[in-house]
Amino acid sequence: MKLMKIGVFDSGVGGENVVAAIKKELPQAEVIFRDDRKNLPYGDKTPEQILEFMTPIMDSFEEDGVDAIVIACNTASTNVLKQLKHMSDVPVVGFVPMIKPASTMTKTGKIVVCATPGTLKSKRYAELKEEYAQDIEVLEPDCSDWASLIESNNLNKDKVDDVIELARSEYADVVVLGCTHYHWIYELLDELSGPDIAVIQPTNAVIAELKRQLRVDLQL
Ligand code: DGL
Repeated sequence: MKLMKIGVFDSGVGGENVVAAIKKELPQAEVIFRDDRKNLPYGDKTPEQILEFMTPIMDSFEEDGVDAIVIACNTASTNVLKQLKHMSDVPVVGFVPMIKPASTMTKTGKIVVCATPGTLKSKRYAELKEEYAQDIEVLEPDCSDWASLIESNNLNKDKVDDVIELARSEYADVVVLGCTHYHWIYELLDELSGPDIAVIQPTNAVIAELKRQLRVDLQL
């Protein structure tokens, strides 16, 4: 049987934990990871810049003959996923902030979304809020330097604590990790938040969608 090939993209280290999760779930697949550290962070770039940076990367995945592509970057997915899907012949699956699950999970009617400025400004993010968060309050703390700090392993605990303190003082009970870089501090967030605040991120849901897409494709 032909070895399945999956292309994974993120601007930087956020994609690495996604790659590890995919390898665990799909050990028979070859995973090709590409980052774009020279243009990182994507969070302060325009959709046009992101598309320009990513076009050669999408081309290189095509040259590799991948069967599917995972955009393990919320900033890219919320800004240019449609265009990326358009330029690809294989399924493209993206990470976006889990507004929908958070809106059904919250009992207090308040959630916190941690994401890059580019994600928070995007049209797709506005649509997600419009569709699923009309009846709840969404708090968006400033995490604009988190991706770069995590990239260089310099994010200090106080910054993370501030977000959990905000959630606690505002009675928010779900914290959405809307940037794959933040997955690296999931355990710290989870530990600080305690049992009353859930911290969620979509890797499992994205892998489930990836498997669904690949199976559908193999049947065709
Ligand atoms: N890891 C990315 C995300 O999910 C991008 C971080 C950045 O480059 O700003 O948004």
